[in-house]
Amino acid sequence: MQLKDVNLTKEQIVEYTEKYMIETYPRMPFVAVKAKDMYIYDSEGNAYLDFYGGIAVNNAGNCNEKVVATLQAQVGQIMHTFNYPYSIPQAVLSKLLVEQTGQGKLTKCFYQSSGSEANEAAIKLARKWSTDKYGPNRFYGLTALKGFHGRTYGAASATGQPESVIQVGFKPMLEGFKYIEYNNLKAWEDAIDENTAFIMVEPVQGEGGVRPGTQEFIQGLRDLADKHDLALIFDEVQTGAGRTGTFWAWQGFGVAPDIMSFAKGTGGGVPFGGILANDDKAAAFGPGAHGTTYGGSIMCCAAALAQCQEIIDRKLPANAEKVGAYFRDKLATLPHIKEVRGKGLLVGAEFDFPGAAAIKKIGIANKLLTTAIGTSIIRMVPPLIVTEADCDKAFDILKAAVEEAYKQTK
Ligand SMILES: Cc1ncc(COP(=O)(O)O)c(C=O)c1O
Repeated sequence: MQLKDVNLTKEQIVEYTEKYMIETYPRMPFVAVKAKDMYIYDSEGNAYLDFYGGIAVNNAGNCNEKVVATLQAQVGQIMHTFNYPYSIPQAVLSKLLVEQTGQGKLTKCFYQSSGSEANEAAIKLARKWSTDKYGPNRFYGLTALKGFHGRTYGAASATGQPESVIQVGFKPMLEGFKYIEYNNLKAWEDAIDENTAFIMVEPVQGEGGVRPGTQEFIQGLRDLADKHDLALIFDEVQTGAGRTGTFWAWQGFGVAPDIMSFAKGTGGGVPFGGILANDDKAAAFGPGAHGTTYGGSIMCCAAALAQCQEIIDRKLPANAEKVGAYFRDKLATLPHIKEVRGKGLLVGAEFDFPGAAAIKKIGIANKLLTTAIGTSIIRMVPPLIVTEADCDKAFDILKAAVEEAYKQTK
């Protein structure tokens, strides 16, 4: 069957999906067929205001014109070759990504196809660097409670949520991780021993409830890494590509890591990710030390190049900072709000009742897309092209949704 010949009803699409797929996702009740800028359109012609951005991916807007044009041109020319030949998109994108870290900060990159894979590469690089230098026992990583690094085994093992669905049923996890309370610097200092190789955190915890690292904590981790010769890894999968007000979130803290992972918003909708590292750590990966069929795919690098260039040219990090501040101030006036957290356009609104699922559902019925975390947090990660007027519209829908959801819980 050719896709162009398919003519299914919404009910049939739902039926096929439920019958033929292993479903692990709570689906939104519509079929997405088109997207542009701040909106996603369903099969019945409804337009949804997109405040989840494909989960912090569509940073330059849904179906950004330049990303689409670049990808179309690239796909028509060459889609995939593996990493044996040199390629123009890889070479140019690598230069851009390294230059975005500032003079002499992070100097080399390695590509993967997702955020989880990017974190696998970061963990492997840190372990290799440490065990090459200090011997086979020095491979432990300290990671944060309530952190999130992905669903593959290494990334899930690094995820400090041992009692959650991420780990329960999948144990034993990979050996070598200790989970420490986020923003509690003293606890990290106390946890370091002779087998510690690296520290890995998100500069702002995303999936764990949108919790920004404090300046003291992020700087303190850098100091601890320097003092004990540990690799400091920042997971920028969700915070990167302009989301928090600077191209990389660590730039907002003025604290550079030794290794960082990226994915999501840097690719703009294609499966893309990777790591950046400084010379010292990057040198631990020699020929054959790591590899991937799709990481660094020509078409994905072409799309990522267009996406990152758009983020830079349109000054989207600055927009994220300005509109994010406006939106968070406004959210603080919502009924039943307990706390508004975040940085730039990585925004979490925590309510004083367990209504997140209902708020999200009522929002969707009124054509606003958000995501729920836990029982009482709504997370919003819209495209970074979002305007204050878009935020006003989202706010009005949210306000009505909160009031309705509260009534339902009574
Ligand atoms: C901070 C962080 N790291 C890693 C990941 C995993 O990325 P992916 O889903 O692309 O594997 C995510 C996904 O939400 C994330 O937020």
